This record gives sequence, structure tokens and C-alpha cells, in this order.
Amino acid sequence: GLKVVTIGGGSSYTPELIEGFINRYDELPVKELWLVDIEEGKEKLDIVGNLAKRMVEKAGLPIDVHLTLDRQTALKDADFVTTQFRVGLLDARAKDERIPLSHGVIGQETNGPGGLFKGLRTVPVILDIVKDMEALCPNAWLINFTNPAGMVTEAVLRYTDLRKVVGLCNVPIGMEMGIARLLDVDHSRVRIDFAGLNHMVYGLDIFLDGVSVKEDVIQKLSSPENSSFVKNVEGSGWEPEFLRALNALTCPYHNYYYNTDVMLEKELENYRDGKVRAQVVQKLENELFELYKDPDLSEKPQQLSERGGAYYSDAAIRLISSIYNDKKDIQPVNTINNGAIPSIPAESAVEMSCVITKEGPKPVAMGDLPVASRGLVQQIKSFERIGAEAAVTGNYDTALLAMTINPLVPSDKTGKVILDEMLEAHKQHLPNF
Ligand code: NAD
Ligand code: G6P
Ligand code: MN
Ligand code: MN
Repeated sequence: GLKVVTIGGGSSYTPELIEGFINRYDELPVKELWLVDIEEGKEKLDIVGNLAKRMVEKAGLPIDVHLTLDRQTALKDADFVTTQFRVGLLDARAKDERIPLSHGVIGQETNGPGGLFKGLRTVPVILDIVKDMEALCPNAWLINFTNPAGMVTEAVLRYTDLRKVVGLCNVPIGMEMGIARLLDVDHSRVRIDFAGLNHMVYGLDIFLDGVSVKEDVIQKLSSPENSSFVKNVEGSGWEPEFLRALNALTCPYHNYYYNTDVMLEKELENYRDGKVRAQVVQKLENELFELYKDPDLSEKPQQLSERGGAYYSDAAIRLISSIYNDKKDIQPVNTINNGAIPSIPAESAVEMSCVITKEGPKPVAMGDLPVASRGLVQQIKSFERIGAEAAVTGNYDTALLAMTINPLVPSDKTGKVILDEMLEAHKQHLPNF
């Protein structure tokens, strides 16, 4: 039987993951599921872990659910390790969002200065986990969901020898679902050719039953409700002429880059009202954990769909199953480029449609990115690389470089002010600095 370890098991998303394992038990017979957390998250782990046990019991499946704070015991002989942790919990996220906004800069969990700092906190932890995996389960796959997933996957590829690593995001699957809704068809009939980076991915073509419907779909994206496919990003709507000329499907996070002033206005309003996303999510999370405590609850509550990570378990479990069963189907994931996108370094992580085999994802080559998106994608890749380097070295100059080259930061001066304030605010979680 399979042994799966989930690091950050106290996450409110865990019931979604459990539901996925239950629904696909026939093709993916998980025997042991270890939910790992740390002292800070012990209470959450207990509550959500007990719900997980009730869910498995109700389904009548022989999956043993273990709850532990001892990562190394959990990792011993694991087959798949999934990560969904948040260093510093939502308090740290609130700082990532609020400090940049207090200086008039986009404050977002995976973009701009907030994304950089989430990376600085997270990369050292993921490298530690990889070290443990190399000692305790050298054949296991690491399926990383922890943000910033692009920078984290880049760091694993650059600073470790682990090659069985896949970065995963729910945005591409969310885009597929959203387009299916827009066309009013079942999502199984829709396929998108994805290429780019995590949270910077483009749909280069869109197919319905194998026939391109890109032009039709692009027409429909000018309305705000169709310009984001996730709950945590409120889209601004696209100018139809712009999208026609771009000739590609944008992802929700493109709103921050192609609509920066509009998005900043909205965020500043939320900031003044005490409603940045971390604050909204904290409220949601409190409500969810109240529900999870109910001993009569033994399924995933509907409210979880208010979080941005919808379809996370579908994406994670279809990926694990395709690796395990060597399915060779096509899924969008983060993996080593190996020349699939010529303008991105071969050894870097890209997010794109891949054939999923037992040896891992193989990118589907589709030529280079359109010239209009190439520069921005390269800039974000450089930001991820330099950000990862800063996280590993703890070098101040490197951190300022990453901050300043980020397209959402207007100057080295503002970048430095934000950097200094955030280094101080997060120092408890930045042992390398
Ligand atoms: P959360 O705040 O609920 O944190 C999850 C758990 O991680 C907590 O119980 C916490 O105690 C634990 N944790 C913190 N540091 C840890 C460590 N060193 N080792 C083990 N556990 C640790 O977070 P969440 O909202 O469930 O999100 C979890 C992660 O998933 C975040 O990084 C988030 O950005 C990411 N996420 C990714 C996507 C995606 O598309 N890739 C979508 C949604 C969320
Ligand atoms: C999705 C993304 C994640 C993101 C999350 C935030 O958009 O793919 O990477 O961080 O949702 O959701 P939340 O509900 O925590 O704001
Ligand atoms: Mn994501
Ligand atoms: Mn379906």
C-alpha cells in the first residue's frame, strides 16, 4: 500500500485532500496518510485530523490516518510527500499584504514584495524537508503546493539533487473549469495548452472537443467576472482589443501586471477597511474550524469553496494517480523546463502542459512564448531565481535586487524601505538573515 505524507496537515484544505483520496481510492490505494504539522499548528492539526479520520471511517476505507509533529518519523519510507504549509501562518501573510500597501505597492501573497517574503520564509524550510527526504525516503515524489510555488520549485531544482519534484497550482485547473462554465460544457471536453510560469501562465490555445475556440473565448474575457478564475483575485476585466492582440488566455494573476493601477486602487481600499485577503481568510478559517470541530461532521463543508485553492485536491490527486499508474495523460504542472520554452533557462522551473508518466512530467513543447509575453515571463523567472538565492544565502544585497527587479516595485528606494520594514517584521521566520 502507498504511504503519503502531507506537511502542513493542519491546513483547512486537508478535508479537500482527504475527499480526493477517498474518491480515487480504487485507482490510488493509500494505506497510510501521515499529517504533519508543528507545535504552532497543533490545535489545527488535531481538529482537522480528527475530521479526516471521521471522513475515512464514514467512507469505510482502510486508510490509516496518523497525526504527528515528528516530520522524520512520518517521512520514513514515504512514497509521496505533499506540502501545504504556511511559515508564520496568516499573521505573516497579513504583513506581506499590508506593509507593501502602506507604501503604495501591491500587497499580495505570491506577487511583488509579499511573494518575495513568503519565498524567503519558505525556501529554507523546503530545503530542509528535501534533506530529510533524501535520508528517509529517497525514492519519494515531492508534490509541492506551498507558495510561492514557482520560486519554491526553482529553489529545489537549483539547490538540491532531488528531481522527483512537481510544483502544483490550482490556477490552471481553475481556468479549465472556468472556461468550461463559460462555454456551458463539461470540463472534460475542454483542453488548454498552458505555458509560462506559476501565477504567470498563459493559455496559448483553447480546445473544445479538440477544435480551437480561442477567439470565441477571448471575446468573453472582457467582463470582470470572466477575468479571474479564482476566489482570491477580483479581476478587472480586459480591454477586448488588448486581449485580441495578445491572442492568449491570461491567468488571474496577470491582473496585477497588466492592470496594476486598477488592482492597487482596489487593494488600497481593502487595506483602509481592514479587509486585505489575509484578514478575510482568517475569518473564513475561523468559521471552517468551528465547523470541523463538530463530531457529527464527516464530509468537506461547502464553505471551503470560498478559498482561492478550489480544485486543489482534484489537481493533486489526478497528478499522484497519473504518476503512480503511469497514465501518460496531459496535466498542467511546474517542472524542469529542459528546453520546452526556449527563452527560459533549461534548468529552471516552468508551468506548462505535461505528459504525466511514472518518471514524472514531460513538458509538451509548443515553441517559444509569444513575443508580447516573453519579456515579462523572463523577468519573473529572474525574480524567482534571485529571490531563491537570497533565501538560501541570506544576503541583503541579493534580497534588495530581487525586490527592485520585481515589476510591481516602482524604485530601488521604495524597494529598500519595504525590504527593511519587512525584514524586521518577519525576523522570527528569517533565520538566514
Ligand atoms: P495555513 O495557514 O492553514 O497553514 C497550513 C499549516 O502549515 C498550518 O497548520 C501551520 O501550522 C503549518 N506549518 C507552518 N510551518 C510549518 C512547518 N515548518 N512544517 C510543517 N507545517 C508547518 O495555510 P493554507 O491556507 O492551508 O495554505 C497552505 C499553503 O498552501 C500556503 O503556502 C498557501 O500559499 C498554499 N496554497 C497554494 C495554492 C497553490 O495554488 N499552489 C493554493 C492555495 C494555497
Ligand atoms: C489560488 C492560488 C494560490 C493562492 C490561493 C489563495 O488562487 O492558486 O496559489 O495563494 O488561491 O487563496 P486564499 O483563499 O488563501 O486567498
Ligand atoms: Mn497557485
Ligand atoms: Mn467532469
